[in-house]
Amino acid sequence: MSFAAYVFDAYGTLFDVHAAVRRHADRVGPDAQSLSEIWRAKQLEYSWVRSLMGSYRDFWALTEEALDFAFAKVPGADPALRGDLLAAYWSLDCYPEVPSVLKSLKASGARLAILSNGSPDMLESAVRSAALDGVIDGIFSVDPVRRFKTDPAVYDLVTTAWRLYPGAVSFQSSNRWDIAGASKFGFHTVWVNRSGQPDEYRDHPPSAILPSLETLRRL
Ligand code: LAC
Repeated sequence: MSFAAYVFDAYGTLFDVHAAVRRHADRVGPDAQSLSEIWRAKQLEYSWVRSLMGSYRDFWALTEEALDFAFAKVPGADPALRGDLLAAYWSLDCYPEVPSVLKSLKASGARLAILSNGSPDMLESAVRSAALDGVIDGIFSVDPVRRFKTDPAVYDLVTTAWRLYPGAVSFQSSNRWDIAGASKFGFHTVWVNRSGQPDEYRDHPPSAILPSLETLRRL
């Protein structure tokens, strides 16, 4: 099946959010994984709560606040690492299959975009540092909408800008809650279940489930 546009979530789908802590794991110590998981969980919680409250702050501010909470919660991790961990977020590793999969989709004639909670400067930096700037046609940040996923206005950014029906878009995310929002909006959805999570939001199922992006080009 081929689509006019393939749109990707950024964090967890193209870029490995845990790469920031992993890069400094020796200095963080034995609680590195716990610090990274709390950091990510709080970053997402803040996005949902602030959308519901109508109290927007951009994703970079939430990323900083979430790391501060994680340090407070994990006393074994040294808050002096704050600057280095935050800096790593601007050049996260992309998953190994990402460059070749994007190139082959692009060669088939599809347009490629990122649709993410990330602020525009965070996303541009991540794309540049992973050398994906030659293949990505559009970077859509929630920032102009001032609400985060799963607000339908976020998914509508792509269809409005590119004048597409939702069904012409294949949306890929490793976040099951993001897939629920995108499916409800009407996108064809591919849940990239990298860590073998159980299914949820069963009333808003993905169109397909893959263990990584590797086989997307063959769907
Ligand atoms: C994003 C978050 C959900 O990139 O990871 O939008």
